[in-house]
Amino acid sequence: MSDDVLLVERVPVNEDDPEVGVVVVATINRPDKLNALNQAVMGAIKAFCADVEQDPSVRCIVFTGASPGPAPEGKRQKPNAFVAGADISEFQGLGSNEIRPIFEDNGWEAIWRLSLPTIAMVDGFALGGGCEVAVSCDLRVASDRSRFGTPEINLGLIPGGGGTQRLARLIGHGRTMEMVYTGEMIDAHEAFRIGLVNHVTAPEALRDRTMALARSIGSKSSHTLRVAKATVRAALETSLSEGVRVEADAFANLFDTEDKEIGVNAFLSREPAVWKHR
Ligand code: COA
Repeated sequence: MSDDVLLVERVPVNEDDPEVGVVVVATINRPDKLNALNQAVMGAIKAFCADVEQDPSVRCIVFTGASPGPAPEGKRQKPNAFVAGADISEFQGLGSNEIRPIFEDNGWEAIWRLSLPTIAMVDGFALGGGCEVAVSCDLRVASDRSRFGTPEINLGLIPGGGGTQRLARLIGHGRTMEMVYTGEMIDAHEAFRIGLVNHVTAPEALRDRTMALARSIGSKSSHTLRVAKATVRAALETSLSEGVRVEADAFANLFDTEDKEIGVNAFLSREPAVWKHR
């Protein structure tokens, strides 16, 4: 097992055509601590996001957590986790002056601001800051043994990684209030029912299901994907009339791109599109 707190793997979108680019899988790697987000992990996530944004071969980014592996002799087996939250051991004794700068410039915002599509691949606990990593991604695929929650209330806290805001926009005010007030976990099926996750699979099928989704997304024009993300995001950040104006503008601008011409011609000639931005 590597000591790196964030493992980065590049998977071709299309094995037969390396030109198409890669899906990058970023694995948070502290399985002994259920992948809790300490400052080293947060620093690695921020650096990774800055790097990946500069890499023209990247089409889609998958965030996940490392599996625990078998327990050493005589030790209890650690459970599977996506991320069990911010590292609580780093909270002890801190005051607002210390925590504020750490939480102002954080990994959740770095993930949220990525211009390319992001998917959280969740196998196990996604709690607190882990639930917030998942909701900072565009989509979520979860194994059926996963559990989601915002247990910060039990620490005398509230979510601090954008969770109150992004959860409320994703699953609604009432459901967010219940999660934040009670700190209780919900299972993957309930998370699916309320729209917190897009797909639920058996643990053995999780990676294939997620990568199929990432490859499907990654096969599109990367320029058009970026425009799509920024435009849908406007729905969360502006009024309806302003958002519709943003969409009309983005839609019209795409008519000046080669990829629009390539896509339309490909449809009409019944050929697969070979994007300029691929
Ligand atoms: N921060 C720091 N360490 C954490 C952690 C966190 N958020 N979540 C788990 N760990 C550590 C535990 O301290 C333990 O370390 P140890 O083996 O060195 O003692 C290890 O991960 C395994 O966790 P453990 O609690 O023994 O597993 P469990 O199966 O009994 O319980 C959970 C699993 C997820 C229910 C429990 O770990 C938990 O409640 N974690 C905290 C969740 C939380 O409040 N997150 C919000 C943080 S703001």
